[in-house]
Parts: sequence; structure tokens; C-alpha cells
Amino acid sequence: MKIALGVTGGVAAYKSAELVRRLQQEKLDIQVVMTRAAQEFITPLTFAALTGNKVITEMFARDGAAPANVESAIEHIAVAQRIDLLLVAPATADVLAQFAHGIAGDFLTTLYLATKAPVVVAPAMNVNMWEHPATRDNVAALRSRGVHVVDPGEGYLACGMIGAGRLAETESIAQKVCAVLGLRHDFAGQTVLVTAGPTREDLDPVRFLTNRSSGKMGYALAEAAVRRGARVVLVSGPTNLPAPAGADWIPVRSTEEMRGAVREHSAQANVIVMAAAVADYRPAIVHARKMKRAGERIALELEPTPDILAELGRERRENHTAPRSILVGFAAETEQIAERAREKLARKAADMIAANDVTQEGAGFDGDTNVVTLFLRDGRQIPLPKLSKFEVANRILDQVLDLQKP
Ligand code: PMT
Repeated sequence: MKIALGVTGGVAAYKSAELVRRLQQEKLDIQVVMTRAAQEFITPLTFAALTGNKVITEMFARDGAAPANVESAIEHIAVAQRIDLLLVAPATADVLAQFAHGIAGDFLTTLYLATKAPVVVAPAMNVNMWEHPATRDNVAALRSRGVHVVDPGEGYLACGMIGAGRLAETESIAQKVCAVLGLRHDFAGQTVLVTAGPTREDLDPVRFLTNRSSGKMGYALAEAAVRRGARVVLVSGPTNLPAPAGADWIPVRSTEEMRGAVREHSAQANVIVMAAAVADYRPAIVHARKMKRAGERIALELEPTPDILAELGRERRENHTAPRSILVGFAAETEQIAERAREKLARKAADMIAANDVTQEGAGFDGDTNVVTLFLRDGRQIPLPKLSKFEVANRILDQVLDLQKP
């Protein structure tokens, strides 16, 4: 995997060299980008020698061509598309402010705007600068957009003051990067059962009822769980997505088939996440031959399908001796999101419901992002900003680990 490491101008810039070494243990290919101020504290040569990659220090050369250390005049776009994560450590108050306000004055700040990869910042500065309301507001704005912030530690600062502002420990920053990239092994030894995609309910040999689910949310969950060391069973309705590497992939078609596959594997699962958009109704009569067109209007009689999640929840509640799995459902809603999510949480006896308003821009079906609020059995409600489906998956898995704590 490839990451960009932005180094900005603070005394802690020298610690970025140690960070490079630590991140290389995770087999990450690191592209260092330095601001002009950073070069006052440490030279590009150090990072070039450590990473084996040219260090990017400038946006433009004086003659308008790309500078020698940048491969093309629109290198920021190429780097933005190539990287799996952008890390900025140390991040000064200045770069945080530029990120928060979308000011793209150099390579690093332009890269931040141009990339869709997750962003991690590790601020380091004087305690008064860190506690200043302007910095607080900027950090809050970045957090609300899904930027991961590794808070600075407390102690003696380079300026001689004592307080918060010291760059977080290398290990904490590395752990956060691994977590965001899904390189943790915190699900090792666990089996995670995921459902994804739509179901198809046949009407006759050529027609069926289905919905708009692409499977992306469920596949992202499966991929995140695999990367975090779980054994993953993915029960998938029909999608156009390739089977995720490392997961046991079980293709199904109807709600009844999905139910059979889930029930076969649920007993061994430590965690069950139902992201599939399962049909609530199916045709009461499935015609053996293609229905003929008739001149008049016809009515379709539908019957309810079994509610797979509710069945699992009910059985878990009734069978106290079985080892307790964590049960996570989704709720695809178009109105009264919180009320309906809470109602589903209770009726289906789940531990958590991830509710998405599928009418909201960037949420729900088919896109690569989702906007989800997590509703927990203890009454907590955790709204997440618009994130990639992979990021949403990781946040759900983080919460599962939290629920598993004794
Ligand atoms: O696949 P994508 O294009 O990426 O889109 C993602 C998504 C919108 C499908 C996903 O984020 C989502 O919301 N999935 C759940 C869709 C759904 O069926 O919601 P629901 O509110 O109707 O069902 C509530 C829960 O009960 C779900 O966990 C569902 O899997 C489960 N259910 C529903 C009906 C049924 N008969 N059996 C079930 O188990």
C-alpha cells in the first residue's frame, strides 16, 4: 500500500524520520511531501534516503515546468489518486487552518483537497496555539469531515512551556495509520458473517422483484474484517462485484436462500452484520411459466418474507446458553430515521443498528460513500460524517470491538 507523509514546519519534523522507519515495518511505500518550512528543520535528503522515493518539495518550477523532483505538472492529482492514505505529521496550526479552509497554496495543501483517501493528522505546536479557539475550530471542522486526528501529548515543549502540543508518540501515530488502513489484526480468531447486496424474488421464470442495493456496503465490511484478521463469511445476493479476496463467498439469490446460508453459518459467527437489502415481500405465487400479457390491469399478491435478522435476535434472546454473538443490522430509511432505527433495534433484538437515510446525497445505495448513524442498545447514538463505505465499515467494526469488551 502507498501512503503520502506530509511533513510540515515544526521542531518535531525530525521525528517524522523515525515514523517513516516504523511505517516501513508495515510494508508501506511512503511518498514524503515537505512544505517549505519543514525544510528549515530537516532536509529532503534524509527522507529520500530512508524511503527510496524522491521527496516532493515544490509545486512549480520557475520556468512553469514541473520541478525536477516532481514527475509531471499535475503530480498532485497523480499522487492523490495513487495513495491509500494521507498522513501529516507533524501538522502545524498553519497547515490545519489551510486544510480546514480549503486553501491550496502548495503541494501538500493541494494534495489534501485532491485526494479521496482517508486523512490522518498528528498536530504538534505550542500549547497556547493548540488551545487557541481558532485551532480548536479548525480541528473540529476537520474531525467533522472525517479527518482522523491523533491528539498531541502533554509534556515539555520545544518552546520551554509545559502542556499539550507535543507530537504524539510514533507508535500511537503508526497504530492509527494501521487502524485506518485496516492493517490491524484486532479481529484475529473471530468469525464475522456479513450479508450484502439485494435479494431477488421470482415472479415467473423471466421476472423478479428486487431493489437498488449494489452490495458495496456489505463488501466493504467483508474486506475491512478480512484486513483486520477475521475469518469472513460473505453471504451475497446478486451483485456485479468481484468476490473479496480472503473471504468465504456464498452467492445466494432469494431471501429464502440468504436465510438458509446465514443460518448455516451463524452458529460459528462471533459477529453478524446484516448489510443486505433483503426483500420484505415476495410474490405469493411464483408462476412456473412466463406470465402472458393480458389487456387488463392485474394485481400482484405479495406475502411477507422471513425476517432473518429478527429470527437471529429472537433465538439469541431465547437461548441463553449459546455463546453470545454481536448482532448488527442496518436500517435503510427515507424518513423518521432515529425513531425507525430504534424501533428496529428493539424489535429485531440487535446490539447495533447502522441507519442510513437513503435519500441523502452521498448515502445509501450504490455510491462509494455512506452517511450512517449508529444506534446502540444502551441508548447511545453515534452520528458519523460522510465517509467511504470502507471507512464506515471500519467504524462499525470499531464499535463491535467496544461492545465485546467485558
Ligand atoms: O449495497 P449498497 O448499494 O452499498 O447499499 C447499501 C445499503 C443501503 C443496502 C445498506 O447501507 C443498507 O441500508 N442495508 C440494509 C437495507 C435494508 O434492508 O434495510 P431494512 O431497514 O429494510 O432492514 C433492516 C435490517 O433487517 C437489515 O439489516 C436487513 O438486512 C434485515 N432484514 C430485512 C428484511 C428481512 N426480510 N430480513 C432481514 O434480515
